Amino acid sequence: MKGHQRVLIDELLPSIEILLSGDATPLNPDKMFPAAISQTWLEIGFGSGEHLIKQAVNNPLVGFIGCEPYINGVARTLTSISRLGLRNVRIFRDDARILLQALPDQSIARTFILFPDPWPKTRHYKRRIIGPKTISTLCRLMPKGAELRIATDDPSYKEWILVHILSCNGFKWRARRPQDWQVKLADWPETRYEMKANAAGRQCSFFLFSREA
Ligand SMILES: C[S@@+](CC[C@H](N)C(=O)[O-])C[C@H]1O[C@@H](n2cnc3c(N)ncnc32)[C@H](O)[C@@H]1O
Repeated sequence: MKGHQRVLIDELLPSIEILLSGDATPLNPDKMFPAAISQTWLEIGFGSGEHLIKQAVNNPLVGFIGCEPYINGVARTLTSISRLGLRNVRIFRDDARILLQALPDQSIARTFILFPDPWPKTRHYKRRIIGPKTISTLCRLMPKGAELRIATDDPSYKEWILVHILSCNGFKWRARRPQDWQVKLADWPETRYEMKANAAGRQCSFFLFSREA
């Protein structure tokens, strides 16, 4: 990590980091930001923050919560937050599943899970972030009409995502034709991992789901 990033970890992160109190009091996303926000959007595993930062710039009235345990990725993201003077991003630097438990019902209007670790070996499938427990928690957190965006380049994870999300009946897949998952929406910035997947010639899939009552 570079010296200026270490300074940002020490000096900027404490002012925007989400810390859990340890008691059962739910977090209040509306009170996390210095100005009033219209909605809260969540990114799980933001890596080096390319998508999180572009979304935060493009949607200044939205409050963003990013979860990422990888400290170098947090440091790079802090560099962008500082350079751009962003005030609508908060960071949780641990396992997103811990944070999800602490968020109140119906508090998240949009969730992004972009290129989650695929854990391709069968014996590691239980480590995948997308599974029945995360999906049922997202159903609790996301109101009707809220959007869930997931991307992956791993063939077995593609199938896993569709099977698990559609079998819970809480989300509707918005695709009507292959183009809808082969081509991203215009407001879906590219991530570092996506660039690597494209450079290696791997086919990425972009899944868009809506929360159903
Ligand atoms: C393959 S990388 C993709 C990063 C980024 N989304 C991108 O597309 O470039 C997966 C990321 O998810 C993070 N991650 C893994 N498990 C996580 C968890 N339980 N909670 C939050 N982030 C997690 C990893 O640290 C890693 O940065």
